[in-house]
Amino acid sequence: MTETRAGLNKNRNKKWNQDVPSGKDAPIGVFDSGVGGLTVVREIMRQIPNEKIIYFGDTARVPYGSKSQETVTRFSEQIVRFLQTFHVKTIVVACNTASAYAMDALEQDCDIPIIGVVKPGARMAAEVTRNGRIGVIATEATINSQIYTQYIQELNQNVTIYGKACPLFVPLVEEGLLEDPVTDEIARRYLTELIDIDIDTLILGCTHYPLIRSTLGRIMGPNVTLVNPAYETARELRQMLKQMNLLNQEPPKLGSNRYQFYVSDKAEKFMNFANSIIKYGILSAKTIHIEKY
Ligand code: DGL
Repeated sequence: MTETRAGLNKNRNKKWNQDVPSGKDAPIGVFDSGVGGLTVVREIMRQIPNEKIIYFGDTARVPYGSKSQETVTRFSEQIVRFLQTFHVKTIVVACNTASAYAMDALEQDCDIPIIGVVKPGARMAAEVTRNGRIGVIATEATINSQIYTQYIQELNQNVTIYGKACPLFVPLVEEGLLEDPVTDEIARRYLTELIDIDIDTLILGCTHYPLIRSTLGRIMGPNVTLVNPAYETARELRQMLKQMNLLNQEPPKLGSNRYQFYVSDKAEKFMNFANSIIKYGILSAKTIHIEKY
């Protein structure tokens, strides 16, 4: 059974303070269980190009999607502590599973703004549905948490949400099988029941799914709107930074290490995948020992 948030929040210690105040010029911290969060980084780079980014991918402990809430929360808290060492001005939880399981705990502990990918995706889906039938595809953990259902129904009680865990999509994407008959076949099997119940909106509730968006779109057909939480998150992040007067107006100075990437396992493997997603070029990635934080 899924553990309750309240249960995990007891004994939580005070807020994590940053000893140096972070302003407009400070970087944005982004994290994910591995490489998938780069779909969110890519959107941030496109939509708010003046920002510096510190990315952490937990490549040693991926996947999060099959782990318990307690474990995912502990991992997320370590990563947030690591990102805080860079005096980031905000943190983006790019992982849907971490957003589903750990947001409450992180928000409670963190004294800088923190944004997950679930709420922005849920808001957009609630807005665009016409027939009130929304599908969510995601990891097992995200589906079991019912978090998308909860957020969407807070916005509109007359909407029905159908969740479908699609655990094979992550390995297929990581194997580079983005346009492949195998991915097509698996996608058809997963999506048939959502097609049969006539959803008109589908949330791509996992970091990897935007990378097979064209396959998913082709199978669902032209009448189904695909919602990409990565895109929506970057949009809301921009709005939030603007409202808080934290949006960087000028591009970072040359040589200021604009984008930095950290991982918990081999950097080389991460770089290969990363460079296939982010065309701006990831110059280097560093391995760190995340259990220390
Ligand atoms: N990043 C995860 C998510 O968005 C997918 C990979 C994993 O299971 O860790 O839910």
